[in-house]
Amino acid sequence: MRGAPSLCRGARLLAAQAGCGRMARALHVSASVQQDNERRTTHFGFQTVDETLKEGLVHGVFSSVASSYDLMNDAMSLGIHRLWKNRFVELLDPRGGIECLDVAGGTGDIALRLLDHARTKHLDRETRVTVLDINPSMLVEGQKRLKESMYWNTPQIRFQLGNAEALNETMPVPERRNPPASTRRNPILPPLVSEPIASESMDLYTIAFGIRNCTHIDRVLAEAFRVLKPGGIFACLEFGKVSLPLLAQVYRQYSFHVIPPIGELLVGDRDSYQYLVESIERFPKQADFARMVAEAGFLLPGSAEASSMGLPRLAGAGAWEDLTFGIATIWTGIKPFA
Ligand SMILES: C[S@@+](CC[C@H](N)C(=O)[O-])C[C@H]1O[C@@H](n2cnc3c(N)ncnc32)[C@H](O)[C@@H]1O
Repeated sequence: MRGAPSLCRGARLLAAQAGCGRMARALHVSASVQQDNERRTTHFGFQTVDETLKEGLVHGVFSSVASSYDLMNDAMSLGIHRLWKNRFVELLDPRGGIECLDVAGGTGDIALRLLDHARTKHLDRETRVTVLDINPSMLVEGQKRLKESMYWNTPQIRFQLGNAEALNETMPVPERRNPPASTRRNPILPPLVSEPIASESMDLYTIAFGIRNCTHIDRVLAEAFRVLKPGGIFACLEFGKVSLPLLAQVYRQYSFHVIPPIGELLVGDRDSYQYLVESIERFPKQADFARMVAEAGFLLPGSAEASSMGLPRLAGAGAWEDLTFGIATIWTGIKPFA
């Protein structure tokens, strides 16, 4: 079991709460919420924080890890996250010029796979993906990746700043200073945009390793439901609970004793990786998250109605699919016709 949070971490959190320090600078606490007398709390990893602070703290984590995110993803998962993402996209099998929204899409990993799959498996160059993320630093990493692809400067890909919990709202777009000359590491990129996502405008909504970072999962699911067309698919890839007890123990030891030190060693940031592993532990169990998806209004795979609408049954009680014994899990749902 892990003990109390490190001193450094506790101090940073306090600094954030007091309104100073690196993470605190990223806080976006709206005045109206601050005025709310009823202070609600939520989890930031293993810590209990005022609900209004979580978004800013998460923002601080991803601003800190953005440039090293891919390297760390490989180091943390021994490269296996690539296989999970491949399976996710293979299962969704995008094709036919559909409109996709990849929420918390950060570095564009899922978007690139969706577009590659549609093109290579179905000769589809019409399918479009909007990558939406709350963090401009993560979106810039995604823009850099997609700039190297054939989809760049085509209607097939767009990047946009937004909050998964309020897709109908826009966010202030920070000014980006481009370098004087384009280099591979630091290319000239178009400015980010932030536009509301219209109701019933999407055929496919994906969110990979993003939903556990959101303060209100129910609001994320409600927004997913709103933006999908009837018959549209919701798909979430997230860390699950490991089904084999022995493996669960080994995985827990690895998560808490290996990942934060790797973060320290490779990118000099232990705290952010400590948060990432704690947030995994906090995420609901497979069946509990499936229930939340159903409560948002989606039909779960495995039900007769979902099957009749063409949503394939998944291995885990029909409603989810465990990857690597549940280290990661795919959940899907389909929006019913009214
Ligand atoms: C672990 S990364 C996942 C990135 C990418 N989907 C992948 O699979 O590699 C989590 C992402 O969630 C984003 N995020 C966190 N809270 C969010 C919110 N409320 N709305 C949109 N994106 C959010 C972060 O900025 C970060 O880019």
